[in-house]
Amino acid sequence: MPGHKGNGPLGFEKLDITEFDGADSLFSANGIIKESEENARKLFNTGATLYSCEGSSLSIRAMLYLAMINKADNQGNYVIATRNSHSAFITASALLGFDIMWLSTGKHLSCKITALDIEKALSSVDKMPFAVYVTSPDYLGNMLNIEEISKVCKKYSVPLLVDNAHGAYLRFLENDIHPISLGADMCCDSAHKTLPALTGGAYLHIAKKEDNYISLAKNAMRLFASTSPSYLILSSLDLCNKYLDSEFKDELKNAICLIKDLKNQLSFLGFLIEGDEELKITISTKDYGYYGYEIAELLKNEGIFVEFYDSDYVVLMLSAQTSNIDVEKIKIALSSIERKDKIIDTPPLISLPKKKYSIREASLMQSEEISVDLALGRALASSSVACPPAINVINAGEVFDKDIINACKYYGIDIVRVIKL
Ligand SMILES: Cc1ncc(COP(=O)(O)O)c(C=O)c1O
Repeated sequence: MPGHKGNGPLGFEKLDITEFDGADSLFSANGIIKESEENARKLFNTGATLYSCEGSSLSIRAMLYLAMINKADNQGNYVIATRNSHSAFITASALLGFDIMWLSTGKHLSCKITALDIEKALSSVDKMPFAVYVTSPDYLGNMLNIEEISKVCKKYSVPLLVDNAHGAYLRFLENDIHPISLGADMCCDSAHKTLPALTGGAYLHIAKKEDNYISLAKNAMRLFASTSPSYLILSSLDLCNKYLDSEFKDELKNAICLIKDLKNQLSFLGFLIEGDEELKITISTKDYGYYGYEIAELLKNEGIFVEFYDSDYVVLMLSAQTSNIDVEKIKIALSSIERKDKIIDTPPLISLPKKKYSIREASLMQSEEISVDLALGRALASSSVACPPAINVINAGEVFDKDIINACKYYGIDIVRVIKL
C-alpha cells in the first residue's frame, strides 16, 4: 500500500506514503512523528500536543473521552456545554453516552456566556459535570473570556474543554490568548482553518501537569480514528512547525493590520461588522439592506468565496497568508454594492426544546424522514445539518415545537429525520 504506488493522476502521489520503516506510526509514535509532535508541543507550550489527520472532530471526541474516563466521584455522566457546539460534540455524546446540560442565549450560532453563567450553573447542580465544554472563537468570530471561565472551573475542580477549532493562531498573537495559555485543560485546534496546513490537519492539546489525560491521549485518539492517517497531512503539520517557529508571527501581525484596516473602511462604508476575532470579518448584512446569501452571491461573482453565509451574516476568514491584493479585492467588491434600506426581520430566538431521549438513545432508534412541517411533537433521531456551520437548531432526542419548526425553516432545514412512532 498505497495502491497508486507513488504514481497517479494527481501528480503528488509519491508524497502519499504509509507506515513503512522509518516513517513512524501516528498512534504508536516513537520516531519522526513523535519528534514532530514534540516540536508542536513546544511551540504551543502544552503538556502534550497530538496530531489529528481527521480535523478537530477527532480531537473533540478524544478529549471528551479523556475527561469522561477520568471522572471524579462527585461528577455525573454529563457535560455543561454551550448550545452552539459543533456536531462533533453531538456525535461524541452519541458514541460515549454522556448527557448534556445546555447553556443557551437563544441564538443559533453564538452563545456569549460569561464566567458568571458558568459559576451559576456549577453552583446550582447536585452533582458536578465531568467537564465544561465551550466553543471559542465561534463561527461568527465571538470569543469567550476563557481566562475567567477557567478560574471558575478550577474552583469547582471541573475540567474546561475548549473547541478552539477556529483559533490555532491565537497562540502566536503578540498577546498569546490560546485557550491552553489561558487555563483550559484541553482544547482542539484545526490547524487547517487558520494555519497553512492541509485540510484535516488538527491538534489535540493537553495542558501541563494533566498526566492522567496525557498518558491515555494516544489511546483516546486511536479509539475514534482511522488506522490509515494521511502522511500528506502529517507532513503538512510537520512543515507547519517550521513556519510557526520562523516568519509566521510577523506575517500574522501584518495580516491582522491589513484586516483591521479593512474592517475600519468597511464600517466607514456602512457595513455592520460583528465579532471580536482578528482574522474573521463577520458582516451583519441586513443592516446594509441585504440578506447574507445575497452578499455572498455578489462576492462570488467577483471571485471571492466567503467561508459562511446565511440570511443574516457573511463570514470571511482571512489568514497570515492574506495579502494586500486580497484585502483590496474584498474592499473594491464590497464598496461597489449599493446600500439599501435596512431589512427589518430578525432571526428567531430559539428556546431549548423539550428533551425526550438522550442523544445516544435517539441515535440508536428506528427513524424516518419527514417534512419539518409535520414534525410537531416528534423527537429528532439525528440531525443532518450541513457544514458549515454544523451547528444544530435541534439535537437528537429533542422534541419539535412550533418555534423550533419555524427556526428550522428559517435556517433552510425542510426535511428532518425523526424517531419512528
Ligand atoms: C466550531 C467548530 N468546531 C469544530 C469543527 C470541526 O473541525 P474539523 O473540520 O477540523 O474537524 C468545526 C468545523 O467547521 C467548527 O467550526
